Amino acid sequence: MLVVCAPAKINLSLEVLGRRGDGYHELSSLMQSLTLHDHVLLRPWPRLRVTCSDPGLQGSENLVWKALELARLRCGIDIGCWAHVEKRIPVSAGLGGGSSDAAAALVGVARLWSHSFSCADLFDMASTLGSDVPYFLYGGACRVGGRGEQVVPEQSKPGIWYLLANPGVSVSTTRVFASLQAMDWSDGSATTRMIAQRRNGLLTPGPNSLRNTCFRLCPEAEACFNVLQAIAPNRTFLSGSGPTSAAMFASRAEAENAQFRVAGSVAWTCVAASNDYRAWRNPCANVYLAQRLSRSWVPCS
Ligand code: C5P
Repeated sequence: MLVVCAPAKINLSLEVLGRRGDGYHELSSLMQSLTLHDHVLLRPWPRLRVTCSDPGLQGSENLVWKALELARLRCGIDIGCWAHVEKRIPVSAGLGGGSSDAAAALVGVARLWSHSFSCADLFDMASTLGSDVPYFLYGGACRVGGRGEQVVPEQSKPGIWYLLANPGVSVSTTRVFASLQAMDWSDGSATTRMIAQRRNGLLTPGPNSLRNTCFRLCPEAEACFNVLQAIAPNRTFLSGSGPTSAAMFASRAEAENAQFRVAGSVAWTCVAASNDYRAWRNPCANVYLAQRLSRSWVPCS
């Protein structure tokens, strides 16, 4: 059996540049993976089977199933796999859990079936599965453009801690994007500026074009954001399409102290650090994928 780590992500900035002809939106975002993660366990099996610690996410509706099915098609062999997903990342929360599980399943099953996909194949399968999935083939800090398929790694900034909080309700990403208004669009310059500042050691969250729409559709998300904002002004931001908000801290102790203060006011909290599987040295996806494969795999039995 093999175990793959599937990290959560936050959007340190998320600008929507406009609506595309294919119905998707053009994005400019800085994404960062976290130490909060799911586990995807894979073992050989005569057919495809997907189970999950969350009984609502079993079987063919899980994006992991679609990832395995797609990988099997591309391999062109009649082969099976049993994937079990241990969830710790809240579902439909703006933290990318389902997309991360799918990316983990893709890279994992290639190892299980001793099949080496080219990077182009992996990226193609990932973007077929969902807009956030290509990012999770990298992890760490990445600038993400297009509808999510343009992924450019950024240098990691270790030692940043986040308090995540959400109101315990889920928000549909499709609904948030569909309700977005043109006045929420921007030109991507805030993300460019933020990335330049970050390279110079200044880390403050950028804007999120989905925030107003998320708050309009989900007042609980706004209430949760306000709880964090009250104790971490200028360091609190909404992740993705919500409803999870995050506040940035320089140490674990500060983040845990804040967690203690908000407990009771929000439904779910978690303290997590920015994480990078790789010591990113080489701007070459092949090298990184190889690193990720060897580092994230733990043989269990
Ligand atoms: O690609 P994925 O299936 O994860 O996207 C979920 C929904 O979010 C899409 O159906 C689309 O409505 C919206 N979306 C978008 N533009 C993006 C990413 C997602 O409009 N760049």
